[in-house]
Amino acid sequence: MRFIRRLLGPKKKNEARKRVVDVERIDRYVRHAEGKDAYLSAYFEAMRNTGSNDNIFKQNRFFTLYQMASRVLAQGPAGDVAECGCWRGHSTYMVANLLKAGGWPGHFWVFDSFEGGLSDKTPKDRTGRGDTSPEATRNQKESFFSDYDAVKASLAPFPFVSLHKGWIPASFDVPGLAESRFALVHIDVDLYEPTRDSLEFFYPRMNPGGIIVIDDYGSALFPGSKTAVDEYLAKAKPAFFLESHLMGAVIVV
Ligand SMILES: C[S@@+](CC[C@H](N)C(=O)[O-])C[C@H]1O[C@@H](n2cnc3c(N)ncnc32)[C@H](O)[C@@H]1O
Repeated sequence: MRFIRRLLGPKKKNEARKRVVDVERIDRYVRHAEGKDAYLSAYFEAMRNTGSNDNIFKQNRFFTLYQMASRVLAQGPAGDVAECGCWRGHSTYMVANLLKAGGWPGHFWVFDSFEGGLSDKTPKDRTGRGDTSPEATRNQKESFFSDYDAVKASLAPFPFVSLHKGWIPASFDVPGLAESRFALVHIDVDLYEPTRDSLEFFYPRMNPGGIIVIDDYGSALFPGSKTAVDEYLAKAKPAFFLESHLMGAVIVV
């Protein structure tokens, strides 16, 4: 148990987390405390190197992303990788580091406003729980502010990563993107419109067997993500769809 205490930091934080999930019962955390878990090492390395934050739900969702990136590396399909929603680059760094270690030959396209945080909410993004006040809206928007130059510096070890600053979907208008085909796309933009626009752009450009990971699917804070995905899948009919119990979803095209 001492290992776990050290892993989770000061006791107060530890106890807050244990109310959410008793990590001492999960083999992955016990192994990580002994320095033997590749995923958690990658997650924390990316977090440290991008100045990002941590929470147990994110650890769960990023584990899905990590497995999907590992699968693409080991088995394909071939194709580029893209991410919509980078913030400070936590998920970008983790995936890029994995691809680099595996000698992956493709390009990794990354899209984010890199300034004003989230775009405007539509009625489909309202939770109905007090998030319509100007202050709540401003706080949520500003909490995702990120600095382009700082993110670029953090991701400098990965020359195959290109950062595209601007609002989705206008920022998809970059040379070569429309002609590319994709093996893996990570959509983590929180809101209805950019999730819908990202799906509309990337889904038809996935190679057969290509994987789309949706970060916010099932979030009570960001209901627009699930709405956008459900609406799109009602017409797209993917080969496989998996919803994670603790938020997030995977689409195999
Ligand atoms: C939850 S954060 C992404 C988290 C990131 N994947 C990580 O690993 O920390 C959501 C991001 O989506 C971006 N975003 C939201 N709406 C956008 C839009 N319409 N165009 C571009 N970026 C957008 C925000 O700037 C924010 O950085």
